[in-house]
Amino acid sequence: MDEVLECIKRIGEVRIRAGLEKRIKDEAPPKSPGPAVKWTGGKRRLLPALKGAFPEDWLDRPYGELMAGGAALFFAWGRFCSKAVLVDINDELMGFYRRLQECPETLIEAMAIFKTAYEESTDRKRFYYRVRELDGLDPCRELEALSGEHVDLWEAVRFHGLNKTSYNGLYRMNQKGRFNAPFGGYKNPGLLDEDNLRRVHLALRRVVLVWGSYETVPLEPGTLVYMDPPYARSEAAKEFTGYLAEGFGDEEQIRLAKWAREQAERGVLVMVTNSDVPLVRELYKDWNLRETATKRSCGAQKGKCSPVNDLIITSWGE
Ligand SMILES: C[S@@+](CC[C@H](N)C(=O)[O-])C[C@H]1O[C@@H](n2cnc3c(N)ncnc32)[C@H](O)[C@@H]1O
Repeated sequence: MDEVLECIKRIGEVRIRAGLEKRIKDEAPPKSPGPAVKWTGGKRRLLPALKGAFPEDWLDRPYGELMAGGAALFFAWGRFCSKAVLVDINDELMGFYRRLQECPETLIEAMAIFKTAYEESTDRKRFYYRVRELDGLDPCRELEALSGEHVDLWEAVRFHGLNKTSYNGLYRMNQKGRFNAPFGGYKNPGLLDEDNLRRVHLALRRVVLVWGSYETVPLEPGTLVYMDPPYARSEAAKEFTGYLAEGFGDEEQIRLAKWAREQAERGVLVMVTNSDVPLVRELYKDWNLRETATKRSCGAQKGKCSPVNDLIITSWGE
């Protein structure tokens, strides 16, 4: 049996427990949680500007982050709202959050097994590619005794392990829908931050988690919603690969803007971030647009186009 199957076998022996263990039960977390995953397009840098754009009464409103990813804004501020929903189309990400919500100590124990196995492996790169290969129910074929609950647990551990050890935390699928980001080769990939994971669990306790597309989620009027789609591309940078196999092109940007308008007409407060490119300015031209000085790389080959800023767009305000 190879090192990765040994690791999964040990994860298969972890006792599944719901909720937190007594020792940290309901203790106020000493620090704010940070995102539990590395996420392309994460908005940590923009947090002060995003918070500055909130309506004055934001604390009294329900909050929705419907393209959640690492959910940086939720963990910083949205978690204080009266109630919250987090949505993402990425099933592995939402499965990971669900395990963290339901059985954090079990997940932490399983993640610790993974971390030790990775660090002690004879060849970390080979270990990474073997983990990448063991998708979904694959390990069950080789380890017959793995229960359904342990398969879910392994999937959450695998998702997090690949997220931390892949190149730049990239989440990329091939045409067949299999994860294919390359190995990152980091010395200290940060495979286990127990305190942060517990803080994230506490923040997620009363949150509704939805795996699916944003438009499937009913929103009550008055909800403050933050939409952070994959960046719209400038004409010079259309080589973008997308977060998932299907990508997020101009048509999806147009569909999102139309949906956002419909929600705003129903009394939902919609905040969107996106690249400062002509398409985005056109789609939200009568909303409130704030420029930021982020000067991000536009994603195209070096020298092919100039860096772009982000726009913070709100359906309310001046
Ligand atoms: C730029 S990332 C969000 C980053 C996030 N704000 C953060 O702080 O990490 C965009 C997210 O949108 C998700 N996404 C793409 N299409 C979606 C859809 N139709 N419905 C919901 N989520 C979607 C992707 O899976 C990805 O996690």
